[in-house]
Amino acid sequence: MALRLGDTVPDFTQASSEGEINFYEWAGDSWVVLFSHPADYTPVCTTELGTVAKLKLEFDKRGVKVIALSVDDVESHKGWIGDINETQSTTVNYPILADGDKKVSELYDMIHPNSLNSLTVRTVFIIDPHKKLRLSIAYPASTGRNFDEIIRVIDSLQLTDNHQVATPANWKDGDDCVIVHSLKDPEVLKEKFPQGYTEVKPYLRMTPQPNK
Ligand code: BEZ
Repeated sequence: MALRLGDTVPDFTQASSEGEINFYEWAGDSWVVLFSHPADYTPVCTTELGTVAKLKLEFDKRGVKVIALSVDDVESHKGWIGDINETQSTTVNYPILADGDKKVSELYDMIHPNSLNSLTVRTVFIIDPHKKLRLSIAYPASTGRNFDEIIRVIDSLQLTDNHQVATPANWKDGDDCVIVHSLKDPEVLKEKFPQGYTEVKPYLRMTPQPNK
């Protein structure tokens, strides 16, 4: 069955461009972005993997480790990484799983045969330090992903976990946030949101972003 938000993600051991990886050990206490792509030496994937390499500082700041996957083998990944580095002016700084036996692809339901035969589509999973699935998206093979959006979601999830706020439509870092509806006690609200809040409706309370 497909993984659902809130599920504990399955552990696995698989080969990668950086040697064999046991996923839980490799992830440790970090957040993880696990993303699949259809095949090595393909144009859209080449731009995506380069873009993710360039975002390393942003992922590091948020305590996030990144790991990619395709069903090609380690030798293919290594050759292709050379092309990514050359054409995208970067250095791939995260492992690419070599899922030739489709062990991980099947565990994480990354193959959508009615869209793309036996290859993995562009799935993205955000996994928290407790190994809970917090976001899953599947993009078509022809659409390169917006990794700024993935970082935006990580920021939103971390704000919720750390400050008990949610984020409204089209929220960007620095915009006002929504106080989660479970917080009702006025004393607690005063303590948690010293910058104050605006009650638009009893169920819609806006506050400046707490960590700014
Ligand atoms: C690409 O990465 O360019 C790609 C891969 C599979 C299907 C379509 C595009």
